[in-house]
Amino acid sequence: MAIITTENLTKTFRSNGNDFQVLRGINLSIEPAQLIAIVGSSGSGKSTLLYVLSTLDTNYDGTIVINDTNLKSLSANQLSDFRNREIGFVFQFHYLLPEFTVLENVSLPALKLGRLSADEVEQASLDELDRLGLKDQAYKKASQLSGGQMQRVAIARALINRPRIIFGDEPTGNLDSVNGRLVFDIFKDLVRTTGQTIIVVTHDSALAKEADQIIMLKDGLVVSAL
Ligand SMILES: Nc1ncnc2c1ncn2[C@@H]1O[C@H](COP(=O)(O)OP(=O)(O)OP(=O)(O)O)[C@@H](O)[C@H]1O
Ligand SMILES: [Mg+2]
Repeated sequence: MAIITTENLTKTFRSNGNDFQVLRGINLSIEPAQLIAIVGSSGSGKSTLLYVLSTLDTNYDGTIVINDTNLKSLSANQLSDFRNREIGFVFQFHYLLPEFTVLENVSLPALKLGRLSADEVEQASLDELDRLGLKDQAYKKASQLSGGQMQRVAIARALINRPRIIFGDEPTGNLDSVNGRLVFDIFKDLVRTTGQTIIVVTHDSALAKEADQIIMLKDGLVVSAL
């Protein structure tokens, strides 16, 4: 049973009165508990695809079904609930709140979801930081960390609500190879141990080769799904 399917997914940007179709009919079926790499040259539509799949961009044609839910059937409020419950994000520019502590940054999505008490959220956040080798950084301000550490904090934050699906747009893009490898190994481990589905755009072909599935885009079309 697929966790994400798309049917004839298209997206068109309009600029200066001209239409430009960026996604030109994407049909995908993504199985759960897999690490998926989206690859393709610059401008092929990878980020655009990731934004529509991850519910952040609702301006598309065609069908996206996640967990048996057709995204188009949800109101804006329902979609925002769905996103907060089911989906985590790790972007290349991680948007941590620099003046907040690491612990606060990781805790925020869980406090917002309101499933756990404040004490439970703190414990869960510390556990998540521990898993990513960051427990000793918990009380520093986010702005005081290195780039690789910030990236791992962003991952902890993406994981705290245990989303079923995690999307990353070049999550290892601004890391050196050691930290890039570390982050990728964490993703592989999560897929095996928690059954989460992780979908990442990457330019690193060595890392992409280790994914369970590679989706290659060219000019807004899937040219191979290996
Ligand atoms: N807001 C926009 N308005 C018009 N065109 C856009 C917009 N955003 C992206 N595009 C165009 O859509 C195409 C795909 O962009 P996208 O960002 O998805 O590429 P990408 O595969 O992620 O590239 P990269 O590897 O460089 O990040 C590009 O030709 C880009 O210029
Ligand atoms: Mg991109």
